[in-house]
Amino acid sequence: METNIKYDHLIIYYFSGTGNAKNTSIWIETIAKENGLTTLLINLDHKKYIETPTVIGKTLIGFCAPTHGFNLPPIVLNAIWKFPKLKNTDVFIINTRGGLKLSKLFLPGLSGLAQILPALILLAKRFRIVGMQPIDLPSNWIFLHPGLKPKVIDSIYQRCHPIINNFTLDILEGKRKYKALLSLPIDILTTPIAILYLFIGRFFLAKTLVATDNCNSCGKCVKQCPVGAITMLDHIPFWSYECESCMRCVNICPERAIETTQGYNFVFFVLAFTIIPPSLFYLMSTIGFSNWISSSVLTENLWELITMPIYLALAIISYKILHFGMRFHFINRMIRYTSLSSNKFWRRYHPPKY
Ligand SMILES: Cc1cc2nc3c(=O)[nH]c(=O)nc-3n(C[C@H](O)[C@H](O)[C@H](O)COP(=O)(O)O)c2cc1C
Repeated sequence: METNIKYDHLIIYYFSGTGNAKNTSIWIETIAKENGLTTLLINLDHKKYIETPTVIGKTLIGFCAPTHGFNLPPIVLNAIWKFPKLKNTDVFIINTRGGLKLSKLFLPGLSGLAQILPALILLAKRFRIVGMQPIDLPSNWIFLHPGLKPKVIDSIYQRCHPIINNFTLDILEGKRKYKALLSLPIDILTTPIAILYLFIGRFFLAKTLVATDNCNSCGKCVKQCPVGAITMLDHIPFWSYECESCMRCVNICPERAIETTQGYNFVFFVLAFTIIPPSLFYLMSTIGFSNWISSSVLTENLWELITMPIYLALAIISYKILHFGMRFHFINRMIRYTSLSSNKFWRRYHPPKY
C-alpha cells in the first residue's frame, strides 16, 4: 500500500508533571512507529541544556508539555530557548491543558502563551512550525480542586486519544494543523496573568506544599521531582523556589503525606497585606517621601514594584519557619485542619499508564 508519510524520523521532547504530556507523546510515537518512522522520546526532567539531535533523513521534532499558569513550564521554555538552531526543520508544539467534565459537557482549559511564546522562539530560530495543538486532558491542579474521578479521567482520555491520533497522521502526511490559533484572541488576553505567573506567581506557588508527620522520609518525592526542587532537611521534605508546582510529588507520595497549604496561605496573605503596605507607607513618609507616594499611576506601579519582592522574601522566610514548625504535632494538626487536600474526598490525580 502506498503511504503519503513525509518523514523518516521523529524526536519528541516532553515534560510531564503527572503523566498527561507523557501519555500524549507515547500516543504520537505509537502512530509514528506504525507508519514506519524511527522514533526517540526525550524526557526534559533535569535538562538544563539540549544536545544537538542526530537528524536522520527527514526528521520531525515535537515539543509536548503541560500548560502552567497560561504558559509552558519554565524548564520547557528554557529548553526551547537554548535549543540548537536547525534551520528549516519541521516542528510541532502540543500543550496539554486542564480539561474538566461537567455532567456530559467537556470543558476545555486555556493555553494563554503556551503555544504563542514557544512558536515565536522557534520561528526566530528559523524552524518551520507544522503543527500547534492544545489537548484538554484531565486537570491535575490539586491545589485548586480534588483529582478527577477515575471514570471522568477515562472518558476525557477516550475523547482526547483520537484527536491526537488524527493530528499525528495529518502532520506525518505533511498537512499543517494550527488548532491552537482558534483561541488566539482569548489567549492573548491572558498575557498579563501569564507574565505575572512566570515572573512572580510561580515562586509563591512553590511555597505551598508541605509534608505532614505521615511522611516516613522515604525520599520518593526527592528522587522523582523533575527539577530537583525538593531536598530532605532534617528528614522533612523542603520545597525550594525552583519547584514548578507540577503536582507530581503530591500525587505519587505513597503515604499521602504531601498537602497543599490553603489555610496557611490565606493567613499569610491577610497578614502580609494588612501589615506591609501601611508599615512601608509609614516608613517612607517618616523619611520624607510622603509627597512622592501621592497617587499618580506611575507611583502606584512603582509601589507594586517595591512591595512585590518584599512579599516574596517574606513568603520564603515564613515557609522556612513553617517547615521548622512541621516537626511539632500542634503545627501539623493546624496545617491538616486548614488544608483542603487533607480531606478524604480530595483525590490525588492518577492518569492511565501506557
Ligand atoms: C501549577 C499549574 C498551573 C496550571 N495552569 C493551567 C493553565 O493555565 N491552563 C490550563 O488549561 N491548565 C492548567 N493546568 C492544568 C495542567 O496543564 C493539565 O492538567 C496538564 O494536562 C497536566 O499535564 P501533565 O500531567 O503532563 O503534567 C495547570 C496545572 C498546574 C499544576
